[in-house]
Amino acid sequence: MRKLALTLRVKGHHFMKAAMLHSFDKPPQCEEFSNPVAAENELIIQVRAAALKPVDKQIASGSHYAGPPTLPCVCGIDGVGHLEDGTRVYFAGSRRPYGAMAQRTVVSRNRCFPLRDDIDDATAAALINPGISAWLSLRSRAKLIPGENVLVLGATGVTGKLALRIAKLLGAGRVVAAGRNQQVLNTLHESGADATICITQDDDELRESFLSEGGSSGFHVILDYLWGHPTEVLLNSLIQNEFVAVKSETRLVQAGESAGPTVALPAALLRSCALTILGTAGIPPRDVLVDAFEQVTSRAARGELRIDVERVPLTNVENAWQRQEPGRRLVLIP
Ligand SMILES: NC(=O)c1ccc[n+]([C@@H]2O[C@H](COP(=O)([O-])OP(=O)(O)OC[C@H]3O[C@@H](n4cnc5c(N)ncnc54)[C@H](OP(=O)(O)O)[C@@H]3O)[C@@H](O)[C@H]2O)c1
Repeated sequence: MRKLALTLRVKGHHFMKAAMLHSFDKPPQCEEFSNPVAAENELIIQVRAAALKPVDKQIASGSHYAGPPTLPCVCGIDGVGHLEDGTRVYFAGSRRPYGAMAQRTVVSRNRCFPLRDDIDDATAAALINPGISAWLSLRSRAKLIPGENVLVLGATGVTGKLALRIAKLLGAGRVVAAGRNQQVLNTLHESGADATICITQDDDELRESFLSEGGSSGFHVILDYLWGHPTEVLLNSLIQNEFVAVKSETRLVQAGESAGPTVALPAALLRSCALTILGTAGIPPRDVLVDAFEQVTSRAARGELRIDVERVPLTNVENAWQRQEPGRRLVLIP
């Protein structure tokens, strides 16, 4: 009996619950894994919330451009938690094999950002990654100028919805939301959309919709979370079939690939119109990141940025992994 109690105590000390990935073609399972130990310039975090995002699934399936992780490993790229001194932080990029979807994780000191009190754990865990991504895409990459027209392709997803609102907060003129889910499209005026385009129309109709919603100046900025076929139709709509003087320029920021990993890029497109294609371009310098972090979290605290969140116990990670929740983020609570 004494031996059993001792074993349990020792086990409790060395092990934690974590979303363990053993295979690229199976969802992770909640299991016991050894507690992390911090090396120099690293911090141990008691995790409070970790959102389940497309990027977590891409990494866990071995399909993300950052490369497949060595197995077994803990899933989750970011979350919210407490440092040993009690400071509440948002963190990203645990040292592998550790991850955010666990009771504890270990992160380099410069990947922790102290978090204000007036935004709760699950909301912060869900909103910071897509919010910062949309903010930086529009502000730093597209360099959106107040008054410019914006098209968000893939606007029915969590990140697309935030991008609509952020475009408005940054002073965009007309903001157009494109996606395939008509029910969600019908609600997007609440997120800042002035018009919507359903991408399930046939290609000719869709091309016409892009042209008419772009108006005489066309879209100045396109934020693209889809890529694949819908983007090909959009790109084709931009080709000029005659010699014309360029009236305005379009910057397209490639930010996601929900509809496909590649597109065909006609030469005629780049020769007939003034299109610049950019990407989100990896992780920005820390000062740019910190500014975006402050902007997004303060606007979330003021209620200017909102996100639908569902809290799920970490023990249910396997089931949560396989659920589809359009427009809503599942957040794992250890
Ligand atoms: N680069 C970055 O920093 C960054 C940051 C955040 C997100 N992303 C990327 O952006 C994409 C969307 O992320 P999210 O957070 O919005 O995900 P999400 O909330 O899961 O939404 C997925 C979106 O993609 C749409 N979709 C899925 N499959 C599609 C298809 N075959 N054809 C057309 N639309 C399709 C969904 O439409 P329905 O509503 O019809 O299901 C929904 O709008 C992902 O690729 C993600 O990795 C990148």
